[in-house]
Amino acid sequence: EDEMLNLRFHGHSCWELDDGTHRVLIDPFLTGNPLADVEPGVFESLDAIVVTHGHGDHLGDSVEIAKRTGALVVSNFEIVNWFGARECQGHPMHIGGGRQFPFGHIKFTIAHHGSTGPDGEPLGNPMGVVLSMGGRKVYHAGDTGLFLDMQLIGEMSGPLDVALLPIGDNFTMGVDDAAKAAELLGARVNIPMHYDTFDVIQADPAEFVDKVGRTGGTAVIVKPGQSYELP
Ligand code: NI
Ligand code: MN
Repeated sequence: EDEMLNLRFHGHSCWELDDGTHRVLIDPFLTGNPLADVEPGVFESLDAIVVTHGHGDHLGDSVEIAKRTGALVVSNFEIVNWFGARECQGHPMHIGGGRQFPFGHIKFTIAHHGSTGPDGEPLGNPMGVVLSMGGRKVYHAGDTGLFLDMQLIGEMSGPLDVALLPIGDNFTMGVDDAAKAAELLGARVNIPMHYDTFDVIQADPAEFVDKVGRTGGTAVIVKPGQSYELP
């Protein structure tokens, strides 16, 4: 059987990874997300939910989806404990750690951001994630500013097939910094996220595509509800 990986965008930073056998959801913020194309109830069978940090626009509907589907919550130690108190099963990890799961390999990276929970409680450090599934490697940056160690992430995990990068500015990298991130990471394809959901993160994804192209990279826009298939 040929290996493949399908990435479906559900708006903001929510991605559904499907290799034909296993399905993983990253940062399922659907309720209250004006760009979401689905409701949390559509997910019936999921292997795991990866949560990059505690903010509501990433942790989102994870509790409801994890409880209903029995999906394993994979995140930092503090966030997995928080889910454990809500009767969700999880696997705690932390920055720099990698682990092979039945559905794929997960390694967490640094991210420069915050990670308070729904009630303002501290939920450890924010993270990015390198997820290997279906023979493909995907870097989801979470929420972060630009950092030079992205070069190391690209080198140690490389070659990355896809980098999912926030471009909305204000809370994360804007277009210029995200284009520089793409250059440092060296992924085959870069896809913008975390923009236009709210007024303060309006950004032009075409400008990102253009700027990545100027440094010799490739970027594509995937709209909410659309899929990008890695051959
Ligand atoms: Ni955040
Ligand atoms: Mn965010």
